Amino acid sequence: MVGEVEIELAGLKLKNPLILASGILGSYASSLNRIARHAGAVVAKSVGLEAREGYKNPCVINWRCGILNAVGLASPSAKDFAEELSNFKKDCPLIVSLYGSSAEEFAKLVNYFPMADAFELNLSCPHAEKLGLEIGRDPDLVIEIIKAVKASTDKPVLAKLSFHMDIVEIGKVCEEAKADGVVAINTIRGMAIDVISRKPILSNVSGGVSGEAIKPIALKCVWDLFEELSIPIIGCGGITNWKDVIEFILAGATAVQIGSALFYSRHIFKSLVESLKSYLRIHGEDLQDIIGQAHKT
Ligand SMILES: Cc1cc2nc3c(=O)[nH]c(=O)nc-3n(C[C@H](O)[C@H](O)[C@H](O)COP(=O)(O)O)c2cc1C
Repeated sequence: MVGEVEIELAGLKLKNPLILASGILGSYASSLNRIARHAGAVVAKSVGLEAREGYKNPCVINWRCGILNAVGLASPSAKDFAEELSNFKKDCPLIVSLYGSSAEEFAKLVNYFPMADAFELNLSCPHAEKLGLEIGRDPDLVIEIIKAVKASTDKPVLAKLSFHMDIVEIGKVCEEAKADGVVAINTIRGMAIDVISRKPILSNVSGGVSGEAIKPIALKCVWDLFEELSIPIIGCGGITNWKDVIEFILAGATAVQIGSALFYSRHIFKSLVESLKSYLRIHGEDLQDIIGQAHKT
């Protein structure tokens, strides 16, 4: 069928390739439910075993090319978050994002979330000590974590990677450990300084840059991963319009995640789906046909 945007991702059927990125809408099922009506899937905010306060305000700054954040993985405990997520209405698959500091912690977390359709492992948050990126850079630990999680669940397991690592090498490690897909990328380290007080604005001094500024960097990560991996790649970083989505798909992404763009438009999923369908109809193709096509020209 021409103009089809439905895709299969690691065994999950998605009505379209647009996925809500982790952490953007806080930790409430009601926000996820709103987006789920039009999204292919939603990723919940990263959660660990214990509740975490995160950093003091200011922890999110709006700037001209996107967002700068150092939320610090603030989240309820796994037990409380699981209770909240039991209110998710399942208009699309739910991907639960997990953070932890050891393979045992990640594996234990899985059992709290029977309502999850898949898990995303946060191996890439750039501003949380001994979590996220700090563990994602260690190939041995990455293998151990993925193997432990895969042993605890039959559901698909995605590994979320960072620009601040040898992304292709770690991507290969994920594939070797039998991850079902990789997500590229999380935010990129950055900061802002207030010229009046002459002090860093974020309470944590530095944070992660997201939004338009990082799109070409994220796109190149997807491109490089596609050259070397056989498992699906989910592109993420700076997607704000339909052309961005198509670029990521042509670079090799099977699906994409959208985060910061939600701060500017709550209707972005609905409008992007219509634009994708029109683009594909004009070209007489389905989305599936064009994955990685830019590598062939
Ligand atoms: C306020 C905020 C909170 C975030 N929280 C998380 C999180 O909990 N876990 C995670 O893996 N990524 C988190 N991210 C990163 C996003 O999921 C995404 O990878 C990144 O923002 C790049 O995509 P974008 O440019 O579309 O926003 C967060 C981003 C922002 C802006």
